[in-house]
Amino acid sequence: MKKQSKFAALLVLLALLSGSLGACSPFDVGELAGQEDTQQDLVTVGFSQLGSESAWRTANTKSVQDALTTENGFFLLYDNARQLQDQQIKDLRSFISQRVDAIVFCPVEEEGWETVLGEAYEAGVPVIALDRNIATKNQSLLAAFLGEDMRTEGVNAGLWLEKTLQEEGRQDEDIRIAVLEGTEGSSAAEGRSEGFLAIASRNQNWHFAAQADAQFTRAKGREVMKRFLSEFDDIDVVVAQNDEMALGALEAIESAGRLYNEDGRKLILISFDGSREALEAVRDGEIDLDVECNPLSGPALRELIENILSGKSYEKVNYLPEQVFTRENVDEYLDSRAY
Ligand code: AHR
Repeated sequence: MKKQSKFAALLVLLALLSGSLGACSPFDVGELAGQEDTQQDLVTVGFSQLGSESAWRTANTKSVQDALTTENGFFLLYDNARQLQDQQIKDLRSFISQRVDAIVFCPVEEEGWETVLGEAYEAGVPVIALDRNIATKNQSLLAAFLGEDMRTEGVNAGLWLEKTLQEEGRQDEDIRIAVLEGTEGSSAAEGRSEGFLAIASRNQNWHFAAQADAQFTRAKGREVMKRFLSEFDDIDVVVAQNDEMALGALEAIESAGRLYNEDGRKLILISFDGSREALEAVRDGEIDLDVECNPLSGPALRELIENILSGKSYEKVNYLPEQVFTRENVDEYLDSRAY
């Protein structure tokens, strides 16, 4: 019998013994056990976060920790892999050996998970990929994916640029684009590149002048942008695949005095995430477009784990709602931005 069905059967048995079947949710384990939140009463979840490279990541970690609390019936084991896939694999193995009820992980890269996920499957531990996805032909290795639609984010960036250049009458002008890419091999970087390229390929006047991995960090964004500016004097558009890199790039652009070209035209800066600091730069006219990447997955994750473990039906692929921010709409969102 799979671990989750054993778990569901145990809950039903507990409910029958307490004579309260139908009166409480299968995850009111604390109540069934007499209000005592000992670890045994709780659903144990191992959460492997990939690192802490950005404000986005901090918000994502907090959202998960705020949702999977003891008050909500969970005991959360948290590990931070500091961008190392080998460390993430070790963390997953440790969760399996601790016989957790479920594993959640944000995969730093897309490839290379088959062996450890096979071990989790054999042990009957359901695994959810959160935020970033994995590349595998064996779909049964993951119980579910919950995260952002990175390809659509890239498409939305491309569509906005296409429309903006048309509105400016520049649809036939040569446009030179520099790209600051996120962690190589991550689904976030791959998806955004793929989506943006889908739109770029139908605009023959768009040229990729420079592209390099800046690892989703501000320091690398600043460093790589500084190099681009010294190598190229005619960049029209910078696409930074997250806010940290965009804010680092902005520092380099401003200190080189290159936010505007000699004709007074502003360099177009596109970013992804929608963090408060970047939205302030959108409001101030420094970042032109910020495509949202939603880090607040905690509540949906909680519901998904509950459905998986109680044997209810659930969607295997779950995308979070996302939108785009420009100077036109950003004021509506800034006040309430928590991260
Ligand atoms: O996977 C989501 C990406 O990773 C976010 O865009 C970025 O800020 C984070 O580091």
